[in-house]
Amino acid sequence: MTATRTRPILIAPSILAADFAAFGAECAAICDQGADWVHVDVMDGHFVPNLTFGPATCAAIRPHIRGVMDVHLMIAPVDPYIDAFARAGADIISAHVEAGPHIHRTLQAIRSAGARAGVAINPGTPVEAIANLLDMVDVVNVMTVNPGFGGQSLIHSQLAKVRAIAAMIGDRPIHIQIDGGVTLDTAPLVVAAGADVLVAGSAIFKGGSPANPAPYGANIRALRAAGEAAR
Ligand code: DX5
Ligand code: ZN
Repeated sequence: MTATRTRPILIAPSILAADFAAFGAECAAICDQGADWVHVDVMDGHFVPNLTFGPATCAAIRPHIRGVMDVHLMIAPVDPYIDAFARAGADIISAHVEAGPHIHRTLQAIRSAGARAGVAINPGTPVEAIANLLDMVDVVNVMTVNPGFGGQSLIHSQLAKVRAIAAMIGDRPIHIQIDGGVTLDTAPLVVAAGADVLVAGSAIFKGGSPANPAPYGANIRALRAAGEAAR
């Protein structure tokens, strides 16, 4: 059994699916309802065909997040912004291996800024691209959709990649995070392949609101149970 497969399942709601006009209340609500990490999708309209928010928004929501702020950078270049996201209170900063030629230096800079480092990998990128980086990361984010939007369907061909990454990691204390298309149906599949952190936007924020957060809690508990059932 590799270390990854015995770790508790962590649920990381993606606020990309939250009410942008109520980010603070949304973050507090999902934390109260059992979220382990809060996943923050930063998009620059260049690396991905969508635009979201930057360090100022991260700093504004930080006081409302009880626990881990997990910042997923879908931007290129990355290095000029690392210190700003670390100062904004990011606990984890993930950069894409495809974002530039110097990912090794980027991961060094993330750790030097005092954050945990993650490397994200797009569906079209082979696992070999991260083979030499595993001693520098705390998280591997396996994109199971092409990044840029929520509400997409999970790309099942990525399950083989998750298994390969779990084998590459072995017993090292590195989280395997799945990002995109995680639902009650796909959660058991990705956990069985070796994942321990489940990012979910549409599957968690559906049916609830800061004024009525109970559906968030029910969605989080159901997703965690679906994952644990695969163990
Ligand atoms: C997509 C983002 C994901 C997305 C997940 O580029 O990285 O975090 O918000 O949303 P769902 O769970 O709806 O696929
Ligand atoms: Zn993400």
